[in-house]
Amino acid sequence: MKSEEFLVGLGNNDSGTREKAANDYVKFWDEQAQSLQWFKKWDKTLDWNFPFARWFVGGTINASYNALDVHQQKNPQKKAILWEGENGDTRVLTYHDLYIQVNKFSNVLKSLGVEKGDRITIYLPMIPELSISMLACARIGAIHTVVFSGFSATSLKDRIEDSKSKVVITADGGYRRGSIVKLKQVVDDAISSLDFVDNVIVVQRTNNQIKLNQKDLLWNDLMQKAKDTCEPEHLDSTHPLYILYTSGTTGKPKGVLHGTGGYLTHLHSTFQWAFDIKDSDVFFCTADIGWVTGHSYVVYGPLLHAATQVMYEGAPDYPNPARMWEIIQKYKVSIFYTTPTALRMFMRFGNSMPESHDLSTLRLLGTVGEPINPEVWRWYYTIIGKKKCPIIDTWWQTETGGIMISPLPGLETIPLKPGSATRPIPGVCTLVVDETGKEVSADTKGFLVIKNPWPGMLLTLWGDDEKYKTVYWSKFKNCYYSGDYAIKDSDGYLWLLGRADDVLKIAGHRIGTAELESGFMSHNAVAEAAVCGIPHEVKGEAIIAFVVLKEGVNQNESLQKEIVNQIRKEVGPIATPEQIYFVSKLPKTRSGKIMRRLLKTIARGEQIGDVSTLEDGAAVSEVKAAIAALKKSIHN
Ligand code: WTA
Repeated sequence: MKSEEFLVGLGNNDSGTREKAANDYVKFWDEQAQSLQWFKKWDKTLDWNFPFARWFVGGTINASYNALDVHQQKNPQKKAILWEGENGDTRVLTYHDLYIQVNKFSNVLKSLGVEKGDRITIYLPMIPELSISMLACARIGAIHTVVFSGFSATSLKDRIEDSKSKVVITADGGYRRGSIVKLKQVVDDAISSLDFVDNVIVVQRTNNQIKLNQKDLLWNDLMQKAKDTCEPEHLDSTHPLYILYTSGTTGKPKGVLHGTGGYLTHLHSTFQWAFDIKDSDVFFCTADIGWVTGHSYVVYGPLLHAATQVMYEGAPDYPNPARMWEIIQKYKVSIFYTTPTALRMFMRFGNSMPESHDLSTLRLLGTVGEPINPEVWRWYYTIIGKKKCPIIDTWWQTETGGIMISPLPGLETIPLKPGSATRPIPGVCTLVVDETGKEVSADTKGFLVIKNPWPGMLLTLWGDDEKYKTVYWSKFKNCYYSGDYAIKDSDGYLWLLGRADDVLKIAGHRIGTAELESGFMSHNAVAEAAVCGIPHEVKGEAIIAFVVLKEGVNQNESLQKEIVNQIRKEVGPIATPEQIYFVSKLPKTRSGKIMRRLLKTIARGEQIGDVSTLEDGAAVSEVKAAIAALKKSIHN
């Protein structure tokens, strides 16, 4: 882990910020919040009623006002979104355009009876209407809940039901690898039994044939009639901005609830510090808005800074694996933010693709979502960045709202180490601790925890304060538990080592094992299932499943296919297992709990420790044999 020779920064060196933050983090964030436009200043910076944090209490603000009105007044013709469709369609929206669209759509929502605090589910492909819908909700104080358009009807239904959304916004379809994903049909299936959904608004992206039901309204028809000004609501700083469902260790996804003033403050600061954003930059974050990275660094972060950004609709390797490099060249992208999974995929196609494109406009590179292998980091640095762009490896979570650990070239200079996210941002204090909550010594693996509240922190879990307390604030005294393993090296650099709980990261997407297992068990031939992750060359981690069939059911190839289809239908294509092993029993503890950690250890070919708590050792032998047989078949 010794320091190598890499570019260390971009010439910024503001040590005062760190010093201020270290002296008094509450006062520090108070100063940061002043960069935003508030309708009314707050009376109290932080109300910390453990474990519920309320930031900038008494202040009123509006996210869409800060993202649009402020820039529309100063520089309306500045380009906000350079949109590239997968099929080559393009659109350019200036800040003025975006402002008008958002105002109109706010009026549309109001005309449908949507009020402050109502929930709206958004199930759209990566098209500008997705950002417009979110900002319109924010403008009138409705709470948006975006569902990734790769999720199935069942997953969508669960989320609409839990949030009790009265309006769903979708599209006739979206392009993915050249074919049309029929989103409207998924929505029809999802809401067929939900009588509280009043309306479905449909954007016509592909113009494919769709069936319009009584509740359905077309986006264009509504927008044509709508007035183009809508006063932004003056919302309390703690007013919920959105719910974003994410996987945890239980079968049911958790609705992470974010507020307004604190969240925006966190994004405003981190977008500046991490990305060093300048007026002339062209920013490109490849994340889908359906995940938190898209919420924070496609929608709110860049817009707060009046940035110009590229938004891309489709698959990163379609129609060929050079698509990202073509986009960077075409739009003269200067800041590129992507995932280790995407980089591993690009790397496999060799250097000639990036090398045959003009990437000279790039000045800063970032990654997010999973640990980045040092060799991939070096490839990114050398082949994409030509050794002139610092790499920011940004660690954060849906729950943290924004970046928490990362090099910050917009603020300071720090020697980089490939694979380390370096240090926490100013105003955030992280620790690496053992099971008892005691800090471990340098270079020792432990659990990553966060000591004090921070402005982007989730407010709670939607409708479940108790679960919020248990999941995040009960494992370690007075600390937020991240669920991640980490090491702090002797230079104080943090190395994030992946999840310590039963959450998987498949191609950077977060999925809980329990959610997958209940998906498997929804197939009527399956008696029991256990799921774990194994290392995967491109996806980082891949899903393997151990399945016990019901008495009298025989395994065969068509059943295997059926089960795979079932899980894709229940959760979505991202849940497709790499491998299914049929076994007659699963290893369990004497109290009947499936030993997932043991399965993971065996699947990874690691040494098994003490298994004396096991109810039945034969299950272990069977699992081992099933894995060995597969490994053998791969080697042959
Ligand atoms: C993982 C994504 C290593 C981590 C923004 C975390 C990372 C989970 C990194 C959150 C990184 C995120 N290095 N691991 N730079 N960034 N993770 O909620 O396990 O989709 O807990 O948020 O991703 O995933 P989520």
